[in-house]
Order: sequence, then C-alpha cells, then structure tokens
Amino acid sequence: MNRVVPEQEHAWRVGTAPGIFPFIGHGIALYRHPLTFLNSLPAHGDLVEIRLGPQRAWMVCHPELVHQVLMDSRTFDKGGPLYDRLRPLLGDGVGTCPHQAHRRQRRLLQPAFRAARVADHTALMAEEVESVCREWHAGRQVDVSATMLALTTRVISRVLFSDSLDATTGAEIRSCLATIVRGLFVRTVVPVDALFRVPTPANRRYRRAVDRVHAIVDTAIAERRRATSCGDRTDVLGILLTAMADDAGAITGQEVHDQLITLLFAGAESTALCLTSALDLLARHPQEEVLLHSEVDAVLAQGQLAGPDELPRLVRTRLVLTETLRHRPPGWLFTRVTTRETDLAGHRLPPGATVLYSPYLLQHDPASFPDPDRFLPDRWLPGKAVGVPHGAMIPFAAGSRKCIGDAFAMREATMALAFVARNWRLRHLPGHVERLRPAATLGPRSLVMVCEPRGPRPLGTPHRVDSPETWAAAAPRVHDSRTAGGNGVDGA
Ligand code: HEM
Repeated sequence: MNRVVPEQEHAWRVGTAPGIFPFIGHGIALYRHPLTFLNSLPAHGDLVEIRLGPQRAWMVCHPELVHQVLMDSRTFDKGGPLYDRLRPLLGDGVGTCPHQAHRRQRRLLQPAFRAARVADHTALMAEEVESVCREWHAGRQVDVSATMLALTTRVISRVLFSDSLDATTGAEIRSCLATIVRGLFVRTVVPVDALFRVPTPANRRYRRAVDRVHAIVDTAIAERRRATSCGDRTDVLGILLTAMADDAGAITGQEVHDQLITLLFAGAESTALCLTSALDLLARHPQEEVLLHSEVDAVLAQGQLAGPDELPRLVRTRLVLTETLRHRPPGWLFTRVTTRETDLAGHRLPPGATVLYSPYLLQHDPASFPDPDRFLPDRWLPGKAVGVPHGAMIPFAAGSRKCIGDAFAMREATMALAFVARNWRLRHLPGHVERLRPAATLGPRSLVMVCEPRGPRPLGTPHRVDSPETWAAAAPRVHDSRTAGGNGVDGA
C-alpha cells in the first residue's frame, strides 16, 4: 500500500514494488527484464522498496531525492550489493573506498584527469582510433563491441602504464571484463554469497577472471619497478609510485594496485559501451546519421582525426553521444549504504540500509524527457535542453563521487565516433536482432556490423552544421561536482 509522506512543500510518495518472491525477492524481474522493471517503479512511489534476494532495498525514483543521496556521500556511502561485490575486484581504490578515505584518494588522482591533462592524450587517442580501424574494408564484418573495447583498453592502458598492453594481454583483459560484468550483475540482484561459493563452471570462470586481472596489474607494476627508478614517468603508475616514495606509509603498494585496477576497469568498459551504442543507434536512425555525416564531412578530411582545432566544431557528434548516454547509460544501476539513521522522502532509514539509484530510470522518466524511448539528439539543442529538470541527466553521476573520467571519456568517444562516421557507414547484418542484456553495465556486447566505405565529400554539397553555441549547450544538465572539473561532458 502506498503512503504519501508530506515533507516541506513536496508530498513524497513512498511505496513497495509488487511481485516479491520468497528468497529471490525481485531477482527474477531484475535479472530477466531489468529495464522494464526499473521503468515500472516510479508508478509505485518516489522511493520504492524492492527486494534483492531476501534483502530489503530502497530504489530512489525522483531526481531531487537522487540529488540528496549523491550530495551526501557521508550518509549514503559506497556500499550495498554492487560495491560489496566490487571490492574483492577493485579493492579499496577511489571508486569503492568509503567516504572517509575518499578525499585523499581523489586528490591524488584528480590531476591526471583534469581537462588540460586529458587534452595531452589527444595524439595517443588518435593513434589508437586509427589503429583499430586500419583493417576495415568494404563489406567487412566488424565485431563493433570487441573493437570499441579494444580501443578503450589500449588507450587507458597507455595512460596508466605508458605502454599499451600487448595484444594477447589486451584480449585477455577484454574477455575477463566480459565475464566479470555479467557475474557482478547476478551477484548484485541476488546478493546471496553462498550461491556463488558453489564451484559451478560460471562461478569458477568468474573467480579465474578476477584473479587474472589482478595478476596482469601486478605484473605491470613489477615490471615498472624493475625497469626504472619509479618516478621518471608521468603516467598514472609513475604518479602513484612517486607519491608512494615521497610519502612513506600514506600510500601502500596495495593502494597502487587498487587504483590501477579501478581505472583500468572503469576506463575501458563504459566508454566502449557508449561508442558501441552510438553506432548501433545511428544505424537504426538514418536521419540522425545523415546529420552526423554532414558535420564530420564539413569538419574533417577523409582519414583525418580530430585534433584541438576540430574538436570544438564537432557539435553534432557530441549531441549524438550525449543522447546515447541518456538513452543507454552504460552505468545504469548503483548501490549505496546508509552509515547512520537518516530520512529520505520523509521515510526513516536505519543505518546499513541498501539504497539504489539508476541513471537509466531517471533518464527514461517521461516527466523529465518527453518520449523517453526515442533517440533524439536534438533534445540537447539550445532552448530544448533547458527544460530538463535539475539532476535528471546523470550519466556520470554527481557530487563528490562523480565520474573522474568524464572529460576523458567524452574526448575519446568524440574522436572515435567522428573518425568512424567520416570514413565508414556501419550497417546491421540482415535479420539482426540484439537484445540488450544488462550486466553490471548496459550496452550491446556482441554487435557485429558491416562496413560500407564513405567517399570523399562531393564538391558543393550543402551541410547542416551546428554552431559552436550548440556545442556549449550540448551538455547534460548535471550537478556540480565538488571535486571533479567540468560538467560531465566537457573536455573535448
Ligand atoms: C562514457 C563513459 C563513462 C561513464 C558513462 C561513466 C559513468 C560513471 C558513473 C555513473 C560513476 C559513478 C558511480 C556511482 O555513483 O556509484 C563513475 C565513477 C567513476 N568513473 Fe566513470 N564513467 C565513464 C568513463 C570513465 C573513464 C574513462 C574513467 C577513467 C579513466 C572512469 C573512472 C571512474 C572512477 C575512478 C569512478 C569513481 C569516482 C569516485 O568515486 O570518486 N570512468 N563513472
């Protein structure tokens, strides 16, 4: 039965989602039809009780309440089923550590992700974009999911360790990531650890994948320590080893490992899914593809990669990416745990309560985004984007735990999408049907498309090119971050 809880001027609705099964709770609905289940929740309240296995949990369905949660990371700390399962993988790095350890860690890493530093990676990103598309030719079937993950893994591994991981290690990381994100999701929606200790093939695969990623990172650290005097490189590993040497005791070898594995994991997966989704959505929306082609043809010569002069002119490219992040946010479901008794929507939550928020749910709420299931990059044109309620667009989250790699991801994705669109049209295979199966992240995981080359720009072709003013406005309205620079999509 729903209750209406008046609190100041807002009468919050607090409810319970129907269809609870003994022991598995809403696990089946969340596992089989997670997006439909999420979209059904706002009808039951602004704060809705659900069951993850036998555990009670609270889904926050209103942007203002999500804002409250994200802005108070002391009370709503990293924790709950997702982060409890991420910790054995990522340790206590910046993404998983509790509030009291966070500020120091974020300060340590933030300089590597500031706009100016991200801009220094433009040439490296360009090299890798060109390299993953080098073998494409007319009629070739490309595994777009694997290619985009190869791209983002190579880019982030160079930023972390200077040298790209060799091809075999890169492929191993990609395969481990795929196993891990699937395994993490089922452990999040049915958080019953005993089930995952049973030595089934799937559980053994998950364990092996986690162990292998740890071993790869350990090897990279050991090689660096053997090869140099630690502090002579300015990549993230160099920064961490220098900080460790300068500040004996404050940063341990374990922390160096945890930060690297966190950045490798977070830096590869989400950006790859965003790019794969964008290419998938463009092929489904030819009229949007035409507009994008018109822009990239005007800004880039064939085979050219965007550099500092071209990036600000890729306005439509960013509209497409922004709408992709709204329509299919790669990070779609996150958990928190309350550290003390607190009020949310006028409802008293005890310490230790599991709270969830979902960028997907907020970004598909018709109250914030009319016709939310349509892919409409024009939503982000000036004059239209202003109607988006505060806090409703949060692909990179908000507050002190906002994504540290937002500007990095947007630059990499803008360069890659513009290059692909300038040179290739990617088509689905005949009869293609891809069901989006959410794992810990959301996006197509086995998308194969066919390459059609695009020729040089025909002389005298008129272009519809969005102006740089559009560019400035093509940013999701996200909350200020207390520590991250930019608004979530700046940085190109
Ligand atoms: C399109 C790409 C990306 C998306 C959509 C995305 C999304 C997010 C979201 C939603 C969070 C907050 C999680 C929560 O509230 O629990 C987050 C955190 C984080 N992301 Fe990203 N991310 C992307 C790319 C990246 C990249 C490229 C990196 C690193 C190079 C990165 C590193 C991190 C880290 C370290 C955190 C934890 C921040 C903290 O707690 O201080 N992400 N990301």
